[in-house]
Amino acid sequence: MERTLILIKPDGVRRNLIGEIIRRYEMKGLKIVSIKSMHPSRELVEEHYAEHRGKPFFNDLIEYLTSGMVVACIVEGSNAIKCVRLINGATKYYDALPGTIRGDFACDETQNLVHASDCEEAAKREIGLWFPEG
Ligand code: PPS
Repeated sequence: MERTLILIKPDGVRRNLIGEIIRRYEMKGLKIVSIKSMHPSRELVEEHYAEHRGKPFFNDLIEYLTSGMVVACIVEGSNAIKCVRLINGATKYYDALPGTIRGDFACDETQNLVHASDCEEAAKREIGLWFPEG
């Protein structure tokens, strides 16, 4: 069993896609073991994306993530990290295949609906950041 962090970003919340997005993970057989909705602080989001500090898109990314409510979930299942990333689709909306969340619903480079941890180490770190209460 593996755990991963997913974030439904502010455009996903504004567009009322929370249920649709979570349904896709559940349909695959993954379990939502924790879920919360919050307006994240700049500090939390900057820490989450620390590896991208200094990149040209960093400020846009931080402004966007702090622009509204975000839903954070811990998703659990066999090979959850890989399965969730396949369900989300490629980062760029124009590379994301139909049938994936981004392929079906995203059409903007910044507002791409979801985030998912990309490896076990990142999942552990990100779960600790978004669910510090344990
Ligand atoms: S990189 O440079 O290849 O490592 O970047 P990449 O993996 O493509 O993306 C890292 C995260 O930054 C987000 N991103 C952007 N946000 C805003 N504007 C632009 N132009 C942009 N390009 C990339 C991207 O969605 C990744 O965030 P997550 O939350 O992991 O999807």
